[in-house]
Amino acid sequence: MTSQSYLSDLFSLDGRVAVVTGGSSGIGRAVARALARAGASVVVVARGKEQLADTVGELTAAGGRAGWVAADLSTRHGVRAAAEEAAGVFGEPDILVNSAGINLRPPMGELGEDVWDATMAVNLEAPFLLGQRFGPGMAERGFGRIIHITSQQAHRAFVQSGAYGVSKGALESLARSQAEAWSRYGVTANTLVPGFVMTQLNQRLSSDPEKVAALAERTLTGRNGLAEDFEGAAVFLASRASAYVTGQSFFVDGGFSVH
Ligand SMILES: NC(=O)c1ccc[n+]([C@@H]2O[C@H](COP(=O)([O-])OP(=O)(O)OC[C@H]3O[C@@H](n4cnc5c(N)ncnc54)[C@H](OP(=O)(O)O)[C@@H]3O)[C@@H](O)[C@H]2O)c1
Repeated sequence: MTSQSYLSDLFSLDGRVAVVTGGSSGIGRAVARALARAGASVVVVARGKEQLADTVGELTAAGGRAGWVAADLSTRHGVRAAAEEAAGVFGEPDILVNSAGINLRPPMGELGEDVWDATMAVNLEAPFLLGQRFGPGMAERGFGRIIHITSQQAHRAFVQSGAYGVSKGALESLARSQAEAWSRYGVTANTLVPGFVMTQLNQRLSSDPEKVAALAERTLTGRNGLAEDFEGAAVFLASRASAYVTGQSFFVDGGFSVH
């Protein structure tokens, strides 16, 4: 067996279908790119059509198979419609990546119900509903991979975690509950835990060079994260290779969490 065929046997996503929410930007886009390059047919889901089309253009230009669904995941109706539309592109997914997320940052003392509701809807309820829609089918077919993107704030209070940290903490619990429900049927559920990654999400923080440098200092690698840092871990968690890894939180954070 050549090294190529060994690696392919472990990690290839040929023939798999993936749905990546938030796949048009930042970490989700890098994950979508990685899954497509590893062989999966990828459907990216977000609101902005221009960025969705741009992402699909990039993936297909690189030889991948990709499509997009424009949807607002902040309402139950929007999530349900998105799920049906996404499943209609290449068929029912084998891989679900929940990367769509928002971080509205009022500190706890100023946190209103509107921010709480909006945060829980996108960061927690959408992943739950998508899991309910796709998880049982994955279990029936005997293979599935659910990957959530959580946060340091799922594990510690940090830079005004507010509602965001609560939603991400619950998302880690959701992954464990999904793992408990479906792992014996070949469906794993895990989370990727970033450190600080310069994306649209934290534009305000990213534009403060002192804060950016201080955050880089808190890592062991001496730099902040790049969206591309998630590619390898995402392919691993989506592939056959991770069959015995479930209910886990994977820190892709340059050592931020252990410093
Ligand atoms: N960047 C970091 O340092 C960091 C750290 C820890 C965790 N994370 C997590 O990583 C994930 C990705 O974040 P990122 O940094 O890559 O952010 P990003 O570049 O802002 O991407 C967020 C994605 O979510 C989509 N989205 C947001 N609200 C949506 C909605 N209501 N309906 C559908 N799609 C929606 C956005 O597209 P549209 O706006 O077009 O809808 C975009 O594709 C998030 O869950 C975030 O919490 C990021």
